[in-house]
Amino acid sequence: MHAVLLAPSILTADFARLGEQVRAAEAGGADLLHLDVMDGRFVPNITFGALVVEALRKVTTLPFDVHLMVVEPERQVAAYCELAATVNVHVEVSPHINRTLGEIRRLGARCGVCINPGTPVSAIEESLPEVDQVMVMTINPGWGGQQMIERQLGKVARVRRLLDEGGYRASLEIDGGVKAENVARCAAAGADVLVCGSSVFNAEGSPEESLAALRRALGAA
Ligand code: DX5
Ligand code: ZN
Repeated sequence: MHAVLLAPSILTADFARLGEQVRAAEAGGADLLHLDVMDGRFVPNITFGALVVEALRKVTTLPFDVHLMVVEPERQVAAYCELAATVNVHVEVSPHINRTLGEIRRLGARCGVCINPGTPVSAIEESLPEVDQVMVMTINPGWGGQQMIERQLGKVARVRRLLDEGGYRASLEIDGGVKAENVARCAAAGADVLVCGSSVFNAEGSPEESLAALRRALGAA
């Protein structure tokens, strides 16, 4: 089985203790930290913006995987490029997606493109040579703690095939509903990066214990 990175999302963490929660994820062996920026327009919720991401930059050395769920993301990418390893934008709100991806790279971050469950793979096919990461949403974005739409794993496998056939080196990330009981299927579909929100921060055990359980489930696959 190929190496799979775990990217805890703080969306369902305790926002009054964010620094502490992030340190717990780091101590638990997180590979990345997934940060969900929502604007109340592309999705109904509002979360946080660059000021909070900047504050978190000071409490951890984990690379940041910023997920911009905002309209007109091209107006916001610059604020995140120096804070994040990867800045991900949704194709649904990016009419000039390749220009925006190029801008993210020019500003020094890896660029990622995300697709919602209702968006076909063809919407990103022309971006595959230009992109460092593809994020397939396995929930309709907006909230943590939703159940994975497992049908979307078929889409993950299709993207995997296109990346491999084209010789493209983008990583392939899954976001939404990742849990110990489905991580093996996510990896088998070809994902390299798994976002895990409520399975780390809203689970029964500590973030450390939850991450260990996810790793065990991956290892057993
Ligand atoms: C939702 C976010 C996800 C969210 C995942 O719109 O993009 O990153 O945190 O949470 P879980 O893992 O609970 O589905
Ligand atoms: Zn996300």
